[in-house]
Amino acid sequence: MHKLIIAAAALVAGLSMAPAAQAAEAGAHVERQAWSFGGIFGTYDTNQLQRGFQVFREVCSSCHGAHLLAFRNLMEEGGPEFSEAQVRALAAEYEVADATADGGRRAAVPADRWPSPFASDQDARDANGGSLPPDFSVLAKARGVKDPFPTWVFNYFTAYQEGGPDYIHALLNGYHDEVPEDAPHGSDGAPFQLPDGKHYNDYFPGHAIGMGPPLSDGVVEYAEAENGTTVPHTLEQYSTDVAAFMMWMAEPHLVSRKQTGFAVLIFLVLFAGLMYGTKRKLWSGIEH
Ligand code: HEC
Repeated sequence: MHKLIIAAAALVAGLSMAPAAQAAEAGAHVERQAWSFGGIFGTYDTNQLQRGFQVFREVCSSCHGAHLLAFRNLMEEGGPEFSEAQVRALAAEYEVADATADGGRRAAVPADRWPSPFASDQDARDANGGSLPPDFSVLAKARGVKDPFPTWVFNYFTAYQEGGPDYIHALLNGYHDEVPEDAPHGSDGAPFQLPDGKHYNDYFPGHAIGMGPPLSDGVVEYAEAENGTTVPHTLEQYSTDVAAFMMWMAEPHLVSRKQTGFAVLIFLVLFAGLMYGTKRKLWSGIEH
């Protein structure tokens, strides 16, 4: 019995230390945003996805690719839901490689994937001081927030899965013009050294990121939404919208997954009740 208690205590202590140590390395505390797609009933906000796509297209896509995104995905239900005519017109503005076309290139059609901004990873690195801008297709699911114990345990119960967009939002807002006073010192106690061509960011692991601040107030001109709403032209708004768009791109079927999950839970509750009733009935005549 004693051994069991000691083992349990060691487990709890181990669990509480490991993620805390990682969080300290990973940088400042990432603040959670109120996403429309959070929680078990979350859904994407079409207007927000349209704005996020605009930010991606006008700013990020000059460096970042999205090789799993086809133009036609932009008109699918649950996404930005552009009309077919809009998507055709959009695709026609881009060129894709096609060996059967004259000169090896032709205008894109809705079935084509989003063209990469660089011919190769090496070209991408050369243009970005040696750093590779990662592809956006599933990036929102490949990044996250490491919560210390016991927060990450609660995350299972609160269905928190927005670590990716929370991190991206924080990253885009986390730049400093100069290395701040409280920057971590090196292992030898020397002050933080920012390598040439890197930028200081509170949230990027190691703080020295090869991407300059891509967004600032006013860089994207949002049109009025169909329902007449307008949103501020601010870094805060752009970063929220583009993070939401990246989440949709990485997990376009999130909404149906959540709905199915909820239906399954209801079924399991009803099924448990039925099984209990069955058990009572079967055992009712037996002495036990
Ligand atoms: C001028 C080119 C350029 C533009 C424009 C740009 N990025 Fe980047 N981005 C980079 C590079 C280079 C990296 C890799 C940085 C590194 O590894 O140090 C990067 C990395 C990232 C990362 C990954 C950080 C990580 O944790 O690894 C995210 C997220 C990101 N960019 C988002 C965006 C968003 C959103 C936009 C548009 C608003 C954007 N970027 C625009 C060049 C760019």
